[in-house]
Amino acid sequence: MAEIIVITSGKGGVGKTTTSASIATGLARRGKKVAVIDFDVGLRNLDLIMGCERRVVYDFVNVIHGEATLKQALIKDKRFDNLYVLAASQTRDKDALSKEGVEKVLKDLSAEGFDYVICDSPAGIEKGAFLAMYYADKAIVVVNPEVSSVRDSDRVLGLLASKTHRAERSDGEVAAHLLLTRYSPVRVESGEMLSINDVEEVLGLKTIGVIPESGDVLNASNKGEPVIMDGESIAGQAYDDAVARLLGEERPLRFTTVEKKGFFSKLFGG
Ligand SMILES: Nc1ncnc2c1ncn2[C@@H]1O[C@H](COP(=O)(O)OP(=O)(O)OP(=O)(O)O)[C@@H](O)[C@H]1O
Ligand SMILES: [Mg+2]
Repeated sequence: MAEIIVITSGKGGVGKTTTSASIATGLARRGKKVAVIDFDVGLRNLDLIMGCERRVVYDFVNVIHGEATLKQALIKDKRFDNLYVLAASQTRDKDALSKEGVEKVLKDLSAEGFDYVICDSPAGIEKGAFLAMYYADKAIVVVNPEVSSVRDSDRVLGLLASKTHRAERSDGEVAAHLLLTRYSPVRVESGEMLSINDVEEVLGLKTIGVIPESGDVLNASNKGEPVIMDGESIAGQAYDDAVARLLGEERPLRFTTVEKKGFFSKLFGG
């Protein structure tokens, strides 16, 4: 059976698509067979970040409506043979998705031997976001360390606990993990941002990763290369840690404290 992981948040623009691309790529790099699905029908973003936008012929909605087979619509990643993208339609609206349609695609992916299906949720708590989380086994709740993001995530946790297939069948809960993104130790220290402990406490979640604020993320998305592929980038390394933890490895948090600059780096502005 494929493990279905939803990348969700409530609030928009916090880093869900960035995270979906990097987690999917990181799992594939570790040998897992992975499909990553863009549930943001109408917007379509994941294919850009994965760098396959020119190869989108058929999309998720086409498959659900029987206009293309799953095989036709799955786009094989150019970096890893065991990584596939299912793009969102740019021309339809969210009503083009249905529970039955989503269920069939997920079942077919499982039958095709996929180990993981990563569902990139749209913002908000409307239909697209609801369907992205409905069949999930696990949720990664992406949060920026600020009050509005935490508040919106809290709503999503309510939905995960009540409005999912698992919740409805009393089939065990959807295991939710916290992924803090755009974390800036300097701004946490100065009190402008919430700390990891603050967010964990408010949401009652354990942290699976803390991704620092980094210009590398934008650079990576401009190149169509998930930031986890950038081994020099602290954001890339932090995503790799998160993937390792997802697979059960213990890794200490990195890049979460303010680096005290030494004399030479001060001198040379490093
Ligand atoms: N760690 C980070 N450091 C700096 N910028 C980041 C980081 N993570 C994400 N961003 C930037 O934040 C913006 C939103 O990211 P992304 O598209 O992944 O969010 P999203 O949650 O999927 O948005 P939406 O709700 O619209 O789908 C992008 O411009 C991205 O480059
Ligand atoms: Mg997105």
